[in-house]
Amino acid sequence: MNQLGNLFKPIKIGKVELKNRIVMLALTTGYSESDNTIGDRFINFYTERAKGGAGLIIVPFTPVDIASPAQPGLYHDHFLHGARKLVDAVHAQGARIAVQLITQYHWVTSEGSSAEVIGPSPVFNQIMRCTPKALTIEEIHRLVEEYGKAALRAREAGFDAIEIAIVGGYLLNRFLSPYSNKRQDKYGGSLENRMRLPLEIIETIKQTTGEDYPIICRLNVEEFMEDGHTIRDSKKVAPVLEASGIEAINLYVGWHECSVPTVQMSVPRGAFVYCAEEIKEVVDIPVIVANRINDPILAENILSQGKADLIGMARALLADPEFPNKAREGRIDEIVPCIACSHCLAELLKTYKDWKNPVSAFCAVNPRAGKEAEYAIKPTPISKKVFVIGGGPGGMEAAIIAASRGHQVTLYEKGDKLGGQLLIASLPPYKDEINSLVRSLIVRTHKADVEVKLNTEVNLETIEQEKPDVVVLATGATPIIPDMLGVQGDNVVTAVEVLNKQKEVGKNVVVIGGGMVGCEAAEFLAQQEKKVTIVEMLGRIGSDIVTTNRPFFLARLRKAGVRMDTNVKVEEITNNGVRISRNGVPDFLEGDTAVLAVGFKANRELAEKLKEKVAALYLVGDCAEPRMIKEAIKEGFCVGMEI
Ligand SMILES: Cc1cc2nc3c(=O)[nH]c(=O)nc-3n(C[C@H](O)[C@H](O)[C@H](O)COP(=O)(O)OP(=O)(O)OC[C@H]3O[C@@H](n4cnc5c(N)ncnc54)[C@H](O)[C@@H]3O)c2cc1C
Ligand SMILES: Cc1cc2nc3c(=O)[nH]c(=O)nc-3n(C[C@H](O)[C@H](O)[C@H](O)COP(=O)(O)O)c2cc1C
Ligand code: SF4
Repeated sequence: MNQLGNLFKPIKIGKVELKNRIVMLALTTGYSESDNTIGDRFINFYTERAKGGAGLIIVPFTPVDIASPAQPGLYHDHFLHGARKLVDAVHAQGARIAVQLITQYHWVTSEGSSAEVIGPSPVFNQIMRCTPKALTIEEIHRLVEEYGKAALRAREAGFDAIEIAIVGGYLLNRFLSPYSNKRQDKYGGSLENRMRLPLEIIETIKQTTGEDYPIICRLNVEEFMEDGHTIRDSKKVAPVLEASGIEAINLYVGWHECSVPTVQMSVPRGAFVYCAEEIKEVVDIPVIVANRINDPILAENILSQGKADLIGMARALLADPEFPNKAREGRIDEIVPCIACSHCLAELLKTYKDWKNPVSAFCAVNPRAGKEAEYAIKPTPISKKVFVIGGGPGGMEAAIIAASRGHQVTLYEKGDKLGGQLLIASLPPYKDEINSLVRSLIVRTHKADVEVKLNTEVNLETIEQEKPDVVVLATGATPIIPDMLGVQGDNVVTAVEVLNKQKEVGKNVVVIGGGMVGCEAAEFLAQQEKKVTIVEMLGRIGSDIVTTNRPFFLARLRKAGVRMDTNVKVEEITNNGVRISRNGVPDFLEGDTAVLAVGFKANRELAEKLKEKVAALYLVGDCAEPRMIKEAIKEGFCVGMEI
């Protein structure tokens, strides 16, 4: 434990004592049952995180008055049974548990009627793509009552505290924000009026649940919306909330539709700690800081410097439920880091586009998330001789899981390092976080007693001589060299060669292919003061970029002066540029260098040779089909479990 003394110091939120400073923030998963009750999947997910050592768990979005797809509810007594089971399971592991009460973008006017998008004022809702109906005073009163009733149920279910969510551009946030609240009555206008609804809710909850029942307020302190609240405004809001009797402030930043990234890989670790410092200046209750804190040393430093009282982590604990225990036991290097790829969020936001088909969250680096019971790692009855070929994420994950189940595993890598294509994926701007995954995979590979053979290219002869029981191929993929006039010229390089700095690039560059890799190479080159044009055959640049990252990425490219040209067919690469056609109309783009980024082809030569030569042959990751980390790790994991 040692150097993490502050992180593991107990603290009180009101009368509730937490054993440490790690708070699992609300993280909507979609793991509740289809009737919005809490069932085994939900309970297993949180029990694992409680067992992993979190001090406080906050159950996500629990609407007070409406069935919201795949989210838990507390708007009826029939939710109490599942909620009690959850609370008991978490308490049994020594953690405390709170529930986040919320009204999202919509509600129902009466039982059985369909959902209606609501707001303080008819200001367009960019997420729901419609203008909300402004709530009447009577409806506001009804809402306040619903909060009181839901809070009482929370107390009856045994939750240690409740959290009121003024976050993300959802209803209470819309009331607080001058951006969306244009009301002329006592719920709009001045700050006092815009705060009225949250304050009435707090007051009602205190009346129904008792003064001693702790309320945490999750407050959006930097909205990053035009005319929205900044930290300066929030410094006025926080003391008023404290005076209303809440016991802690949990910080939130941004709306889903804001133009500033808040959770992406491009956001530096701990980027919003400054907000906690500011809020701590004006309140005496505990302040929970959030966003991009995925490292216990950073967490400890924040606490030891007095910048916050508790550390909120959402995705870090999705990625590794054992994060707290590993940190406490000095096994920091074994933590599976959240790399902020944002796939979990992108997946979840799909529900807002299609309510009828709610999705549930997954984690790119932790295939067990949400499948804790199904994917329990059990020892193998027969220990087999397993060869894993390829030391990228897919190969390492397969090796770790197979070895930890008791197989004798040898991992072969033809290069001089483990990491595979992640070593290249981490090179573009803002991608350094990928290195933390590489480091963690390498440590876990060694700790699982996998025998690692670097600089060893496996071929058919190796397999015939060594006769393993199982071969797992994780040989990755290679950049495609398209069949195109001039492609063999000296001025043609691949995006991988550019990122690796294997090849020189001129001042004026045409990147052929506007997918994620092409865009990353373009940004990499633009940062070196090159003039860059991306040409893309499709009508859309970056169509394979995670939806939650894409707008920010394209904005950066535009700001860096990268030209993006769509619906372009490359006819020929010449010594001084690229001959193209746009909708059949020829054109010429000048350039010293052409950078190819037209995709990858699976490395399957060895697979073809090994077919029918080994009893058990598995393909994982890009060598099955070029894709991303999430598939490589998931498939590596599943094969490791199967053999
Ligand atoms: C520029 C770039 C950026 C990317 N960014 C992202 C991103 O942001 N997010 C994301 O999810 N994905 C990203 N990817 C994709 C991601 O890197 C791959 O999907 C992932 O690495 C695939 O893992 P893998 O284990 O299947 O193969 P690889 O990582 O390719 O590993 C294969 C390994 O096998 C070794 N090998 C091959 N043949 C043999 C042999 N015969 N014997 C021994 N060893 C062998 C290779 O040397 C290599 O180390 C990016 C890729 C690139 C190129
Ligand atoms: C998939 C996902 C679901 C989330 N659900 C909620 C939620 O229900 N309520 C909430 O207040 N915040 C929610 N958040 C925001 C997180 O609580 C947290 O503020 C954000 O992820 C930044 O912290 P992190 O970097 O530790 O993940 C969610 C975030 C993600 C990625
Ligand atoms: S999916 Fe990506 S962002 Fe989400 S928790 Fe996993 S690693 Fe982190």
